[in-house]
Amino acid sequence: MKNNIILIGFMGSGKTSVGIRLSYFLKQTMIDTDKWIERCQQMSVSDLFALKGEEAFRAMETDCLKELIRTVDQQIISVGGGLPMREENHGLLKILGKVVYLRVTPEVVYKRLKSDTTRPLLQVENPMERIRELLGVRAPVYEACADVVVDVSDKTFEQIIKEIA
Ligand code: S3P
Repeated sequence: MKNNIILIGFMGSGKTSVGIRLSYFLKQTMIDTDKWIERCQQMSVSDLFALKGEEAFRAMETDCLKELIRTVDQQIISVGGGLPMREENHGLLKILGKVVYLRVTPEVVYKRLKSDTTRPLLQVENPMERIRELLGVRAPVYEACADVVVDVSDKTFEQIIKEIA
């Protein structure tokens, strides 16, 4: 069992922004699985979805977790919103460290991501409906995976960091 802090949660829950601040606070570096995969594949997540497909991307996420288990400790790791949905990844997350779920409402996600073009799963006619639908399926899985749940919708970064720390 490793001693990392892993941030999970829906797109737009603030995993990256919280992770950066937490890494300053705890003086640990931060790793983001999307960025890791983009660097390895030399391609953006959107292009990976378009050219290789979602399943291939999900397999890359699992490979990334295995690589992190081998190479990383005492760090902050932010993972893509869909990563916890693969059952195979649950055990890997547990090995990697403490899992913190940043819980957010669909309304806040929509407000934050309505103009975003980098999330392929939200490039649909009715993003709000898609967010509700995905979050409905994912929320119980996020909760089951988490060691700690933090409601982030109406909190400042300072409050969130304090709670996690
Ligand atoms: C996804 C979330 C994204 C990224 C990809 C798929 C998802 O990461 O991995 O677009 O299925 O929820 P963020 O949660 O960092 O936006």
